[in-house]
Amino acid sequence: MSRTPFVAGNWKMHKTAAEASAFLTELAPRVPRGVESAVCVPFTALAGAVDAAAGTGVHVYAQNMHQAAQGAFTGEVSARMLLELGVDGVLLGHSERRQLFGETDAALAEKLPAAHAAGLRVIFAVGETARERDDSATETVLARQLEALAGLSAERVAATTIAYEPVWAIGTGLTATPEMAQTAHRFIRAVIERGFGVGAQVRIQYGGSMKPDNAAGLIVQPDIDGGLIGGASLDVEQFAGILDAARP
Ligand code: PGA
Repeated sequence: MSRTPFVAGNWKMHKTAAEASAFLTELAPRVPRGVESAVCVPFTALAGAVDAAAGTGVHVYAQNMHQAAQGAFTGEVSARMLLELGVDGVLLGHSERRQLFGETDAALAEKLPAAHAAGLRVIFAVGETARERDDSATETVLARQLEALAGLSAERVAATTIAYEPVWAIGTGLTATPEMAQTAHRFIRAVIERGFGVGAQVRIQYGGSMKPDNAAGLIVQPDIDGGLIGGASLDVEQFAGILDAARP
């Protein structure tokens, strides 16, 4: 089964609305054919990014959303609010949300079906810490995090992009070797095949210090279908370089 390569930028708390629009205008002519692309932008830049990305093929994702449709949840944003802006999807479960903002597996188990029910595309991030890897707990941790998919139909799991992001590789310049990443990706695919029978369909991105010069070696691995890019997605030249490296 051939899976379309998918590269997404995660801008985190970077770029104002004006900066986001300027970036997308500059990126547009450089998006290669045959590679799906997206940027996960801060809430305040979503509307401008949707306008700037129109007609370019680049999808615009939020970086988080609340699982409830509405309610007394100060500071939160719902799927319906994202849809109103024309947002295509949402990144859920990034390790910074888990570690710095207390996002739990239980909350994610509600967010995943809420996002799908609203018609948003979903990138769902999982990954172990350095400590967990040292304790040989990587597979246990990944399997536990993937349990948040349990409330989804097989069809929705197949449509979910998983981002494998070893926490120790994020923003550190320490990339997992292609072999280490491939081993984790193969495991994730097997868990999804066992649980839902859609292992061959689901796309799994690698994330953690992916750059133009190491992207091709990672993406060529049989179970790595693209990347979720932090630092290198802030610069058009570098992000376009990674998109090129993902060309089938
Ligand atoms: P990085 O971040 O590419 O800067 O390591 C990846 C991520 O957090 O998604």
